[in-house]
Amino acid sequence: MVNKISIIGAGRVGESVAQILAIKKLTECIMLIGRNEQRTKGIALDIQETASAHQFDAKLTGSNDISNIKNSNIVIITAGSPRKPGMDRADVLAINLKIIDQIMDGVIKYAPDAYVIVVSNPVDVLTYYANQKSNWPRNRIMGQAGILDSMRMSSFIAMETDYSINDIQAMVLGGHGDTMVPLPRFTTVSGISIEHLLDRATIDKIIQRTRDGGAEILNLKQKSSAYDAPGAAVSIMVEAIVHNKHRLLPCITMLEGEYGQSDIAIGVPVVLGKNGIEKIVELDFNTEEQKAFDTSAQVIKGLIEEI
Ligand code: 2OP
Repeated sequence: MVNKISIIGAGRVGESVAQILAIKKLTECIMLIGRNEQRTKGIALDIQETASAHQFDAKLTGSNDISNIKNSNIVIITAGSPRKPGMDRADVLAINLKIIDQIMDGVIKYAPDAYVIVVSNPVDVLTYYANQKSNWPRNRIMGQAGILDSMRMSSFIAMETDYSINDIQAMVLGGHGDTMVPLPRFTTVSGISIEHLLDRATIDKIIQRTRDGGAEILNLKQKSSAYDAPGAAVSIMVEAIVHNKHRLLPCITMLEGEYGQSDIAIGVPVVLGKNGIEKIVELDFNTEEQKAFDTSAQVIKGLIEEI
């Protein structure tokens, strides 16, 4: 357990993260920062009142003052304008860039020793920006996307087959957008690649549904993007850091030559522990996988050029 985790952005993702971190008993204090002070206090109190049901001791506080993130071990950034149906994640770049810029001023000032997890979209570009702005070592500022996308892929495999979700391990790399790179060769059911277990048409269907996973939820809900699965995905990263689990997970990190890329933040397999991103694991891609990864990297680089 760590002493304090701050969540910046009290929208549905921020609320979901706060609730799950409390239930998982990952920290003593949860500081939720939102623009609307009363609403943010209300969310924190509502979750606090679940403590007896879930038997957690964490103290939750809501505030609109970013200076209250001081002494945080981990800061999670979920603030930003969500996309509306029909919009791409990149369509919210300009507005969310301004928001992240202000937030990072506060993070650098008040929580200079924290580990930072970026969740706001477009998450690859914003993770890159947070790294550039802070100039902190790259192990401390990372983005969440690959765990969510891999969770979705695992769910779709379980839905399409009779295999248990407990045995499915999916691996989705690249950018968190239409060009994300679900990797069937590295997606397994109890260690057996799905390429050995499923026919090509079923795999292609699962890959497409994974790529469209965020849009599918948005189109169904209309007024909100996903927040339950994103919240759960963030909690996996926090758990790995807090309990020093050295988990091998797909996360967004800055590359410095790995995968033939540099000056970019993109999803790759990393080892996540108490020192944040402790290692980048380089997979031996085949030609098709490398091409898909490079295409995804090109799209992110195009967006980075816009900032
Ligand atoms: C998602 O994939 C909103 O990017 C988020 O659901």
